[in-house]
Amino acid sequence: MPEVQVLSQRYSLSDGHTLDGYLRSGGMAGLRVALDMAPADIITLVKDSGLRGRGGAGFPTGVKWGFVPQDTGRPIYLVVNADEGEPGTFKDRELMERDPFMLLEGMAIAARALGCARSFIFIRGEYLWPGIRLEEAIAEAYTDGWLGKDIQGSGFDFDVTLHYAAGAYICGEETALLDALEGRRGQPRLRPPFPAVAGLYACPTVVNNVETIATVPHIIELGAEWFRSMGTEKSPGPKLFCVSGEVVRPGNYEFPMGTPAREIIETACGGMLPDRALKFWAPGGSSTPLLTAEHYDVGMDFESISAAGSLLGTAAMMMFSDRTSVVDAVLNWTRFYEHESCGKCTPCREGTFWLAQILERILDRRGREQDIQILDDLCDNIFGRAFCALGDGATSPIKSSIKYFREEYVQLIEQGRLPDHIEPHAGVVTENSGHHRPHSRPPARAGAHAR
Ligand SMILES: Cc1cc2nc3c(=O)[nH]c(=O)nc-3n(C[C@H](O)[C@H](O)[C@H](O)COP(=O)(O)O)c2cc1C
Ligand code: SF4
Repeated sequence: MPEVQVLSQRYSLSDGHTLDGYLRSGGMAGLRVALDMAPADIITLVKDSGLRGRGGAGFPTGVKWGFVPQDTGRPIYLVVNADEGEPGTFKDRELMERDPFMLLEGMAIAARALGCARSFIFIRGEYLWPGIRLEEAIAEAYTDGWLGKDIQGSGFDFDVTLHYAAGAYICGEETALLDALEGRRGQPRLRPPFPAVAGLYACPTVVNNVETIATVPHIIELGAEWFRSMGTEKSPGPKLFCVSGEVVRPGNYEFPMGTPAREIIETACGGMLPDRALKFWAPGGSSTPLLTAEHYDVGMDFESISAAGSLLGTAAMMMFSDRTSVVDAVLNWTRFYEHESCGKCTPCREGTFWLAQILERILDRRGREQDIQILDDLCDNIFGRAFCALGDGATSPIKSSIKYFREEYVQLIEQGRLPDHIEPHAGVVTENSGHHRPHSRPPARAGAHAR
């Protein structure tokens, strides 16, 4: 399947981020159509398109919009999730930098469909440049009557507020995001009630990912059938794939859903780096179970990746060669989860700490015979028992790496060495290389693991 240019169509324009450039290249066509449509018809069209959320879970967007009650007498909010904290994911950043009006147009259409007059973009604090681009775009849109009162004389009022997040992975989880937006410490809420019924300020709220919302104008302009002409039956449409790791040309690439991983990597990305063979890869960010070279031909859609034993997640493909230690990569991610665990529930708060401890001691050549079993047991006591999906995600790289690369763990524990071809690099130290792996943190005090 060839590369497509729907969401990325303005990436090569020097002024695609300005209102002039946006309008000149066909922007706002979807909103013009939507302003003449009944809100319920917009929702039906998005349902018919089969668009599924691009934030990780793949929930059908039109169905989510349909859950919002219209008769509560309370305001309805739209919140765009621009937190983009999943390791390996950088598609929303480029979209906001290069085509901020596409997001604003999608928001206005979604708001019209939902009966919403005020919305928020929750952007991660580190995204300064995309934030500046959005601030400029919002200001231009207000000046030119694409936001604010009586948009383009349609009688439709709609306001957008950009909110910079303080910086925590958990604040990308939609209910923690809402708490953070309300000014509280970002921790997931108990559901039900779901945000569609009681979200921001206890009002009906839709939370959608940046890419999801940016896809909407195209569906409204070109129709559900056009959208379904790309991708697979259950995962239709174009999709941005973020590719990183040991490939020739890492970056964001747009392909129809269901395109085989091999095709994305070998064509758009120029393949793996010279003399490096694919060893393992994460298909959708570090929270998704690792796959191996044997899964290289799997289609990049929700169903195919799930059948292969993983998850499409954010479609952030992280590619690793046989020169990389899988145990070391897994430790790196596990440290991230340990650091980002919000602490609300015990399995994740305590479990991620111990997972990191055990992986560190294995890589420090202090591993014990029973450590693989302990890692496995710990994962089983976190997965499905943690309060939110962060806990589950933390176990994915560990369980899958043990499933496919148990030998590498065994070799480290029993012989204190990694396979010969693994290259030492910053953070990865092999017994064979003669380096010493520094302790990443002070040794734990007995019985104490407070952060
Ligand atoms: C720990 C965690 C972090 C998340 N981070 C993000 C994020 O940064 N951006 C995002 O869009 N969704 C993120 N999500 C998913 C959101 O909870 C939610 O499903 C999504 O924003 C819904 O949008 P969509 O339906 O358009 O995909 C995260 C979920 C979890 C559990
Ligand atoms: S699973 Fe982790 S991040 Fe989620 S609520 Fe529990 S402690 Fe917080």
